[in-house]
Amino acid sequence: MRANPHFQKLPAGYLFPEIGRRVRAYAAAHPEAKVIRLGIGDVTEPLAPAIIGAMHAAVDEMAARETFKGYGPEQGYDFLVEAIREHDYTRRGIEVAADEIFVSDGSKCDSGNLQELFAADAVIAVTDPVYPVYVDSNVMAGRTGAPGADGRFPGLVYLPATAANGFCPPPPETTDARGVDVVYLCSPNNPTGAVMTREQLTAWVAWAKQHDALIVFDAAYEAYIQDDALPRSIFEIPGAREVAVEMRSFSKRAGFTGVRCGFLVVPKDLRATGAGGERVSLNAMWSRRHTTKFNGASYVVQRGAAAVYTPDGLAQTGAQIAFYMENARILREGLARAGFTVYGGQHAPYIWLETPKGTTSWQFFDGLLDKAHLVGTPGSGFGPQGEGYFRLSAFNSRANVDEAVARIAKVFA
Ligand code: MLT
Repeated sequence: MRANPHFQKLPAGYLFPEIGRRVRAYAAAHPEAKVIRLGIGDVTEPLAPAIIGAMHAAVDEMAARETFKGYGPEQGYDFLVEAIREHDYTRRGIEVAADEIFVSDGSKCDSGNLQELFAADAVIAVTDPVYPVYVDSNVMAGRTGAPGADGRFPGLVYLPATAANGFCPPPPETTDARGVDVVYLCSPNNPTGAVMTREQLTAWVAWAKQHDALIVFDAAYEAYIQDDALPRSIFEIPGAREVAVEMRSFSKRAGFTGVRCGFLVVPKDLRATGAGGERVSLNAMWSRRHTTKFNGASYVVQRGAAAVYTPDGLAQTGAQIAFYMENARILREGLARAGFTVYGGQHAPYIWLETPKGTTSWQFFDGLLDKAHLVGTPGSGFGPQGEGYFRLSAFNSRANVDEAVARIAKVFA
């Protein structure tokens, strides 16, 4: 058979497995090193008791003929969809219908799968740096050329996220925007930790309306927002239902990275242009895709996710988020004391720091691993504009975070 040629355009390994490979090689060569991993944004705290209790009860249901569940609704069980609708949207004054919520096995899959809805030659805009899945999934689908020497894929529109724009690039100018079909926005942002204000999101919604573009809004980290004035959902912005879809995840919010559950909101007001110029419903298209290719997240997992919204679940997961955010504060302040310029970490579990002058992101990665036995993520792995930056994750034990800061203070004294 002939293979999909577009895969050849990608670097051989996805960013995080590549980091894992380098760290394993280092650890094998230096077995005495006590390596602390602040690279991939993977939670470390065990699941909250309310979630564990609900999952145990669900397993027991699976053990009895009367309560056993086979295939569930592809879109998600009503008990979870209603809990999401009530807590994440209705209580915040946001209108979302039950049949606009699609429960899934997580936002990574949703962000990779969503591009199946876009025309083969759709023009995609991404911020730079960016969560690599948005780019790589569109490269695999053939929407780009092979990367140039600058690491950029021809065909993609890159929106530089720089210190000068607070890592929140504005919509492209009218002329640049011609032809942009889809833009991916992530707030709070992975990797920079920046968060978009209501004014900034409002400008994006206005731009999308003007250009008949779709905003793919990734809100996987919304639970880390500390200021109630900041938008947690794009649907807080008037008009967003006509131009945006929103991804949410239980991974970072409730420790589900290994359990897997998320959801995508696709409003029924959202329309795209079909091959004959007709307006087509993205909600209907996503429903068709989801029911064809997905048999629903597991019952046990959905019971666990629904428990997040119980009073105990909210209190316990809230305490975990506060714990990680305290880690973020310790890292941010420790890095600043060691002389680093740091960003993020205030409404997101990621710290984005400038590497010392003349040191590339990967050189800093190697140096930090070698001298401090600390693992982070090179900013250049998130896009060319990430060169000269480095990401540290706040997901770890307090002891490891304190130890990481102590090692940084020693190495960079
Ligand atoms: C990250 O470290 O960027 C995240 O863990 C990636 C993800 O959530 O897939």
